[in-house]
Amino acid sequence: MEKKNQLYEGKAKKVFETDDPEVLIVSYKDDATAFNGQKKGSITGKGVINNQMSNLLMRVLETKGVPTHYVEELNERETAVKRVTILPLEVIIRNISAGSFSKRYGVEEGIVFDAPTIEFSYKNDDLGDPLINDDHIYALKLCTREELETVKKYAFLVNDLLKEVWGRCGITLVDFKIEFGRVKDGSIVLADEISPDTCRLWDSETGKKLDKDRFRRDLGGVEEAYQEVMGRLKQAL
Ligand code: TMP
Repeated sequence: MEKKNQLYEGKAKKVFETDDPEVLIVSYKDDATAFNGQKKGSITGKGVINNQMSNLLMRVLETKGVPTHYVEELNERETAVKRVTILPLEVIIRNISAGSFSKRYGVEEGIVFDAPTIEFSYKNDDLGDPLINDDHIYALKLCTREELETVKKYAFLVNDLLKEVWGRCGITLVDFKIEFGRVKDGSIVLADEISPDTCRLWDSETGKKLDKDRFRRDLGGVEEAYQEVMGRLKQAL
């Protein structure tokens, strides 16, 4: 697969065209940002871990009925993926209170919900990715009703499957953010990445944070946490 011109550079990844118009190459960087880019840094080895972890998890999800953009891992930082039009939505599932949920509603972190919750943010950096509801999504024509139903169905299925996988690693899946895209035939697939950048992962025994909150909150041991999670996942799969 030949890497052609760069289409896009985001905060954590670059995207390139290839000789196949329906296939792109994603290249994962070690750059880390938080709070809509206000905090900047680097996590050594993160690009390699996030690339490999996301691919491992997407392959598991594919076998369990969640279509994804994954095509082929090319090297430790780069993966071929299906070209999609990303729905401008961050889809967030929560099993336990944390982060912006705790802040918004004034509750402590760690409250285990009776059932998972779903919420959406409108992907727009200038606006700071504001929370958005279903009716506003339709009003802004961000996707169709049928697409949103599909997104919700897949998101809850992803949660069930990831909870099980992380459970086998001795890790509790607190919450996560995923994104979806439309492929050429119009169908919806899981896109972007699944990694400690996009999930809250707590050690099931000790509650230790093993995700990007270590970077966001200056907790130290960031690289070690990413390596720990990757090591446990490889053992479990
Ligand atoms: P939040 O509690 O800050 O809203 O985050 C919820 C989940 O979404 C958490 O697992 C981290 C992830 N997330 C991203 O992947 N990208 C983002 O830009 C933000 C704000 C959160």
